[in-house]
Amino acid sequence: MSEIAKLEVGGKVYEFPIYTGTEDESAIDISKLRGVTEGVITIDRGYKNTGSCLSEITFLEGEKGILRYRGYSIEELAEKADFLEVAFLLIFGELPTQEQLDKFNSDIKKNSVVDDDIKKIIDAFPKSAHPMGVLSSLTSALTAFNPGAVDIDSEEDMYNSVVGILGKFPVLVAWTMRKKQGLPLDYGKKSLGYIENLLKMMFKQPNEKYIQNPIIVNALDKLLILHADHEQNCSTSTVRIVGSSHAGLFASLSAGISALWGPLHGGANQAVLEMLEGIKKDGGDTNKYMAKAKDKNDPFRLMGFGHRVYKNFDPRAKIIKKAADEVLGNLGVKDPVLDIAEGLESQALADDYFVARKLYPNVDFYSGIIYRAMGIPTDMFTVMFALGRLPGWIAQWKEMRLNNEPIGRPRQIYTGESLREFVPVEKR
Ligand code: ACO
Repeated sequence: MSEIAKLEVGGKVYEFPIYTGTEDESAIDISKLRGVTEGVITIDRGYKNTGSCLSEITFLEGEKGILRYRGYSIEELAEKADFLEVAFLLIFGELPTQEQLDKFNSDIKKNSVVDDDIKKIIDAFPKSAHPMGVLSSLTSALTAFNPGAVDIDSEEDMYNSVVGILGKFPVLVAWTMRKKQGLPLDYGKKSLGYIENLLKMMFKQPNEKYIQNPIIVNALDKLLILHADHEQNCSTSTVRIVGSSHAGLFASLSAGISALWGPLHGGANQAVLEMLEGIKKDGGDTNKYMAKAKDKNDPFRLMGFGHRVYKNFDPRAKIIKKAADEVLGNLGVKDPVLDIAEGLESQALADDYFVARKLYPNVDFYSGIIYRAMGIPTDMFTVMFALGRLPGWIAQWKEMRLNNEPIGRPRQIYTGESLREFVPVEKR
């Protein structure tokens, strides 16, 4: 491809450089567009064609269903690495040596206690509060308990913030769930692995020992790896844009959690299960819901289908479907909701409407099914996603700050009223 793009505006031709990424993706650099054309900008609703940064963290190619973290394929990482190794890789750029991994693990454990006053904040939430709202608030509240800003020029300071939030976040996740269930808050056990400890903090009953199931531990580890980063998605872009004003790490993460909450993004895993439950209650007629999804006068969409970037298949969905089969088989789960999910999946994959629009099951179609089998309440699904995405958000925030990105501040084309005179209230 030529290294220059030419654009003609009002009879004048302007030239812009073209960036090429390591995987041959191309982008026209329009950073000087407004200046040289004296006022012309681009409009790109939903940023479908806009690259917001250059990044070395994650590569994905939607058409081919490729996803790689720092050059390693998601398939290989899901099979051979564990979540903390992947977190280290995303945040620091290389897989850790055994020594680095042991230190990382032990530093995270040292940081896995939160200020006891956090409990007062949790107590103040009504039981009806959605866990994502609680998690976002608690993450933001961490700023109050750790007021010093991260010195981004200090590697030590950066490292301490990373292990600090990776240690505290699972506590907030587990406590958000337990509070809602009326269970005493549990701190887990320092000797346990990251995932085992999380499960214990979530599920330990006050009057009995918590017994780990390796199949569940392994499936949860995989799920978190698959969710760990996904380049410039809605929540990650939010973390970057909030952080670009030099708001702190916890404030930026809290904003990312809010962005993830929505049903068109991370909230889809909850929405999938609610949709399946709704279909079951309505008699289980999947044909009726397929027709609704295709009806342009009906706002209903098949949740868990389609993706902004993947237009072939979602590589994460393939891995997770296999894990779902293992977990359900191991736990001997028989659930009518799963039959509905299977029915919808096979119908949609063979349906012209879905095939023509390249709508395939995404990772969230299956993740909710596994979470449900593990006994995680539906409204906690997106919280689990947030825990998985945490290393990606941190890595992207760190990269953005270290690259000294300017404050994110898009422009607009104004379509409102032109200047008009104020009319006093009695004359309106
Ligand atoms: N059910 C029915 N029709 C759909 C669906 C769906 N799930 N998704 C897209 N379509 C249709 C649209 O109506 C549109 O049809 P048209 O061309 O006839 O107008 C076409 O497919 C393209 O859809 P867009 O909304 O333009 O695609 P976009 O890339 O903007 O949206 C999105 C992607 C938001 C994921 C969308 O597919 C969707 O709403 N899916 C359901 C929600 C979901 O599962 N979200 C999770 C995404 S994964 C994640 O965040 C981890």
